[in-house]
Formats: sequence, C-alpha cells, structure tokens
Amino acid sequence: MRDRGQGVRKSFRNIIVLTGAGVSAESGMGTFRDKDGIWTQHSLEDVATPEGFARNPRLVHDFYNARRRSLREAAPNAAHTALARLERMAGQAGAALLLVTQNVDNLHEKAGSRSLLHMHGELEKVMCASCGIKGPWDEDLFTGTECWSCGAVGSLRPDVVWFGEMPYGMDMIHDRLSACDLFVSIGTSGEVYPAAGFVEEARMSGAHTIELNLEPSANARVFGEGRYGPASQVVSEWVEDIGQRLRA
Ligand code: OAD
Repeated sequence: MRDRGQGVRKSFRNIIVLTGAGVSAESGMGTFRDKDGIWTQHSLEDVATPEGFARNPRLVHDFYNARRRSLREAAPNAAHTALARLERMAGQAGAALLLVTQNVDNLHEKAGSRSLLHMHGELEKVMCASCGIKGPWDEDLFTGTECWSCGAVGSLRPDVVWFGEMPYGMDMIHDRLSACDLFVSIGTSGEVYPAAGFVEEARMSGAHTIELNLEPSANARVFGEGRYGPASQVVSEWVEDIGQRLRA
C-alpha cells in the first residue's frame, strides 16, 4: 500500500468509482493492453473505430459477437459484488456514489450496482446507424441484420463507443467530479482519455484519490494512494475499510 499523506478524510459524501477491464479480468472477460490482451490479438483500428466498421463490418461483428458470447458465460467476481455493497452502504450513510465504468460487459449490474454509467456503451445493446434507435441485443449481429424500427439492412452496430467517438454521459461525469470528495480508479491502465484524466479533475475538487490495480498504472503517480493486487482481493478489502468510515 502507498499513501502519499494527501489527508484522508474520516467520511465521504460524494464518491466516484471508475472501473476498467481489470475489474472483470477474474471473470474471464480479458483486458486490452496486458500481455496476451485483446489489443495484442486484434487490431484496434480494425475493430474499434468507425472507419474500421465502414471498411469491414463483418470483421467487427465477428469480434463483438465473440465478446457477447463470452459475456454469457461470465459471472461477477468479488470485486463487482464489493462495489455493489459499497453503493448500498453509501446510500445508508446518506452519501452519493456514482460508478462510471469503461467496461461494456454487464457484470456490475449483475452484481447489483444500480448507480452506474457505461461511458463506453454496452455489449448487449445495439444502435441503428440509419435511424438512431437503440435497444437490447443478446444475440449475434450480422451484416444482413435488419433494423426492427426503420427496416434498414446492415445499419445495426454494437452500441459501444469506438475510438474517435464521444463517450457517453460526459456532462454528468464532469458535474459529479467537480463535487467529488473520494475518487477511486480500479483496474484501468490510465492510458485512454478522457477517463485517464478524471483523477486530475477529482484532485482539483479536493478529493482523496486512490488507485486499486494489479500493478501501478501509467498515471499512478497522480493518485494520493495506491493499493496493488488482484481486484477480487484489493477491492473487497478497500470496501471494508471505506464502509467503516461511512458508518463512523
Ligand atoms: P487495459 O487493458 O488498458 O488495462 C487493464 C488494467 O487492469 C491494467 O492496468 C492491468 O494491470 C489491470 N489488471 C489486470 N488484471 C487485473 C486484476 N485481476 N485485478 C486488478 N487489475 C487488473 O483496460 P482499460 O484501462 O479498461 O475502450 O482500457 C480502457 C479502454 O481501452 C477500454 O474501455 C477499451 C480499450 O480500448 C474501447 O474499446 C473504446
């Protein structure tokens, strides 16, 4: 554990939790930039950009169909359930908690989190590039799939935010960061913006900032405190600590 003596408060009123692929790693969803990560096996430009989709929609559908299928086999781990518990404890203590996830899986909601924002979209949703409608989708998607609303063929795409697109909920996230007194970043490499910049915003609001990760991330030095190890372990332990402070 590393604590830079940033002045840890006794209790907190406005908590923001940011999660990345590391929180779902032990559920088998895979991370992106680790050794054998998803971006070592697939080209990000081909499967996670609007240009890649325009070039080869079938390749993009194959990639997300495989991820959607692996999500069906996945279950929340102890880190997801600890964060759902933290939301309930915060509610009982009269504190506000917002969980912002970069993950497109649904393991936080399966664990019971409700105050949740998917800033990079959701694997089990699609949107129509032609009419803009969005809806739930838990099956494979094909280039010949017809939009249920406007009837366009081949215009349905996963409702995930690709590189070059604007993440969801940014106004709300900035608002909440400006009032935040505790910011915790879990299982994210700190390499993808805007999420990687949230810690700086939280610091400017005077928040205590903490990173929970397998190992120090790219922007670890910006955090006031760091705890390192598998999420299932460090997140559960940290939630116990913070729960005591919320009850105090
Ligand atoms: P990354 O793959 O970049 O980083 C995962 C982080 O999780 C690393 O810092 C690992 O050390 C850590 N990690 C791995 N296993 C862990 C474990 N068991 N417990 C705790 N930490 C662990 O994933 P993200 O930071 O989430 O965006 O990536 C951010 C965005 O880049 C993703 O949302 C995705 C990707 O490209 C899009 O596709 C738009």
